[in-house]
Amino acid sequence: GTTLGTSAAEKGRYFGAAVAAGKLGDSTYTTVLNREFNSVVAENEMKWASTEPQRNSFNYSSADRIVNHATSRGMLVRGHTLLWHAQQPTWAQNLSGSDLRSAAINHVTRVATYYRGKIHSWDVVNEAFADGGGGGRRDSNLQRTGNDWIEAAFRAADAADPGARLCYNDYNTDGVNAKSTGIYNMVRDFKSRGVPIDCVGFQSHLGGSVPGDYQANLQRFADLGVDVQITELDVAQGSNQANVYGTVTRACMAVSRCTGITTWGVRDCDSWRGGENPLLFDCSGNKKAAYTNVLNALNAG
Ligand code: G3I
Repeated sequence: GTTLGTSAAEKGRYFGAAVAAGKLGDSTYTTVLNREFNSVVAENEMKWASTEPQRNSFNYSSADRIVNHATSRGMLVRGHTLLWHAQQPTWAQNLSGSDLRSAAINHVTRVATYYRGKIHSWDVVNEAFADGGGGGRRDSNLQRTGNDWIEAAFRAADAADPGARLCYNDYNTDGVNAKSTGIYNMVRDFKSRGVPIDCVGFQSHLGGSVPGDYQANLQRFADLGVDVQITELDVAQGSNQANVYGTVTRACMAVSRCTGITTWGVRDCDSWRGGENPLLFDCSGNKKAAYTNVLNALNAG
């Protein structure tokens, strides 16, 4: 293929970008987006604070602009994210216990029902594990409702949209480490008990190197019977940026259950990482060296 999306599609995969609704009027942005990518994810517009700003009052206007842009062009849509400790509406931040639990499950049910049939993969739960060596859950208002909140969320999402792939998504999980192993144990437990989980997202916000066991880490999750996806890829600018992008892409291509890659933005100046210039296109929409490495990796073999 000659673009990221067509090259990935030839290998049965998608290549996506995080999109901000406010940028869909920027023709430099949409020219690159529409030409290169065959999947999108909303950078912020599907988060709890955006979709349910008041309790039981739902607003999908910004998210729908992204979904409509994508579906009218034949692009897939990832959903991000149904439950997360961050970017919650103020009203939810002020709840706890069974009231928060029922509000959270209601949120999952309502949003997943609204988008039923339109979402390829949902990040049902985002970033629920703690950093560091413990391998356990992150403390949060959701975690304090009971350790079973994650499986309750997956069951609710499955009931609302049985056709979507249901993912757990996290960062600093890109190699074999205590955090990724904690998640691995959760996924193994879910699979053994029939909790509906279909995929694990590896955000892959990377610096100057890739963990040496990056591919092996993807593979050990795939071996549990879930798909794996690279969900928020960006790499600090530096001498090794293009190599890191190439290595990550080759790792995904080498794992048959690695179904797609998403970069967390389109151009460097769209990135949340400020001056790090971590994406595949410069601010004028020109392809960077990293782009060439990714395209070649998608087309190899
Ligand atoms: O929309 C308001 C705007 O009205 C206001 O004027 C402005 C002033 O600060 O803030 C705007 O909201 C910002 C929002 O992005 C939209 O631009 C928030 O302050 C800002 O915190 C928010 O940052 C987002 C961040 O998640 C929040 O945690 C980033 O754009 C987004 O890229 C980032 O994405 C996360 C993934 O969801 C999960 N994984 C990590 C990743 C990077 O942090």
